Amino acid sequence: SNDPLVIFMPSGKRGRFPVGTPVLTAARQLGVDLDSVCGGRGICSKCQVEPSFGEFPKHGVTVSPDALSPRNEVEDRYDRIRGLKQGRRLGCQARIQGDIVIDVPPESQVHRQVIRKAADSRTIVMDPATRPYYVEVAQPDMHEPSGDFQRLAAALKEQWDISGVTADTALLHRLQPALRKGEWKATVILHRDHHGTPRILDIHPGFWEGRLYGLAIDLGSTTIAAHLCDLRNGKVLASSGLMNPQIRFGEDLMSRVSYAMMNPGGDAEMTRAVRTAINGLAESIATEAGVDPRNIVETVFVCNPVMHHLLLGIDPVELGQAPFALATSESLTIPARDLDLHAVHPQAQVYILPCIAGHVGADCAAVALAEEPYKSDDIVLIVDVGTNAEILLGNRERVLACSSPTGPAFEGAQISSGQRAAPGAIERVEIDPVTKEPRFKVIGCDLWSDDPGFAAATAQTGITGICGSGIIEVVAEMRMAGIVDAGGLIGSAEQTGTARCIPQGRTHAYVLHDATAEGGPLIMVTQGDIRAIQLAKSALYAGARLLMDELGIDRVDRIVLAGAFGAHISPKHAMVLGMIPDCPLDRVSSAGNAAGTGARIALCDISARARIEEEVRRILKVETAIEPRFQEHFVAANAIPHATDPFPELTK
Ligand code: FES
Repeated sequence: SNDPLVIFMPSGKRGRFPVGTPVLTAARQLGVDLDSVCGGRGICSKCQVEPSFGEFPKHGVTVSPDALSPRNEVEDRYDRIRGLKQGRRLGCQARIQGDIVIDVPPESQVHRQVIRKAADSRTIVMDPATRPYYVEVAQPDMHEPSGDFQRLAAALKEQWDISGVTADTALLHRLQPALRKGEWKATVILHRDHHGTPRILDIHPGFWEGRLYGLAIDLGSTTIAAHLCDLRNGKVLASSGLMNPQIRFGEDLMSRVSYAMMNPGGDAEMTRAVRTAINGLAESIATEAGVDPRNIVETVFVCNPVMHHLLLGIDPVELGQAPFALATSESLTIPARDLDLHAVHPQAQVYILPCIAGHVGADCAAVALAEEPYKSDDIVLIVDVGTNAEILLGNRERVLACSSPTGPAFEGAQISSGQRAAPGAIERVEIDPVTKEPRFKVIGCDLWSDDPGFAAATAQTGITGICGSGIIEVVAEMRMAGIVDAGGLIGSAEQTGTARCIPQGRTHAYVLHDATAEGGPLIMVTQGDIRAIQLAKSALYAGARLLMDELGIDRVDRIVLAGAFGAHISPKHAMVLGMIPDCPLDRVSSAGNAAGTGARIALCDISARARIEEEVRRILKVETAIEPRFQEHFVAANAIPHATDPFPELTK
């Protein structure tokens, strides 16, 4: 035809459209991702595009400056008020006059990709479940006796092609004043989950300029970590964490299950404690980011099965005994108020990732979503280190998962000088093999402890304890410096040749930092600390080995170490300790908080929710608790690094 050719970049999508077609309409018809909140009325300015002029030999077109209609009064008005970036046009106002190449800048893409980590090419796609939609609603009429809600629903159908919307009675309370105040124009906050049921969460009169936010919460047995994200661009505005208050009912999961079994109402008590803590965390994180908690419209949780049940107010007793049946293993989309989450929008929705099995929870699903073992060509072992370690092994053909009870030692609990990752915590350690003198780094300071200026730089925070990644390093360094033997015993001052090894009862302890002269702490690694780390690392290693047996392999191609605690785990130290099987060191990477990243992905992108639900069905679960070989692997892994398994990569 003779209609002008329209080419959208960067997608390259193209088509011919009659003269006078708005750019937004052309984009919609071609399936080009071009944002719009006001439905093309020139109000929201989300549809900005950049026309390109000149010759495009690759596309065989020459674009003249009059290929688009001249600016109209809507654009002029918008430009006067807020300024349209040089060369930009509103896609809903600019009309096609001739062949044209149009750039859609990243800010104008709904599903734009957000870079996750600098070192990682993977991205988060923005496709949040909850978005604002601007609508113009028909006014009531004596002759057409329909309700305001029905006319609103009709407007959403007509203007946004969204049918079957539902809402709570709470919305009906706000509906009539909002529609009248906005003179029958309104912005609807609409939640559409990936199963497709649209639900109106809120309504604002006229065009609403506000922003929507979401919380991604990694609910661990020992710590709770939350990220507050902007639902337009996926940006993390604030992150915060606290200790799980359920610790007072039992340090690990099984002791919490027994608490629920032994004490009538014990499960409800733990449910209350964790919900109160989450409300407090949501409030403080909103304050920190300067965000109105009413605009937090979504929350995603990842957690292990016991936390999952206690969060939902379900007695976890079945999870304490074989066959470890979950109340439900599927994902959940529920109102936040069902979880007594009052610190967010009253109609906010919660999404909980699916559980993989009775011992392998939504946290493991989140790790899988973040690291995507099911897309890997080589065989990858992924361990998420926490009070329970989540372990995944496999490649695009087959993925196995298990969970292993490491206990809270890796998170700094049960360790004499342990603490959670916070400024002042020791996170890196080196011990000179000759002098046995340590140097270390603390969170919040870039200097090593023997650098000039270290004392001044840490004067504010002090040196308060050792965090999870610091514990792994210090024990591994003690082993390499000969302060600890393969059985895990700390030597005396005579045996080790350092006065830092001091007697403690019938055992010894290694003094890492002594600030007692200035009224500060004495930070030591005790024999009890080493024993706790040995138990934790044996459990982790045994779980990994069990999956390797199951897959019939004795070497993995690469390893990803993840953990909510600390910044990053050092691959070398993890291997020296025998936490992970032998593997070339340059094939071991550290991923930080993968479960938290998985929660963020599910928060920002509903298609990721569908994807992980699908993948979880295919993951093969291995139950460590009933597998006799787990116990054998566990005992053999007690030595540092291991009683029998070789670590050739360490001696290279
Ligand atoms: Fe809202 Fe163009 S679509 S201004």
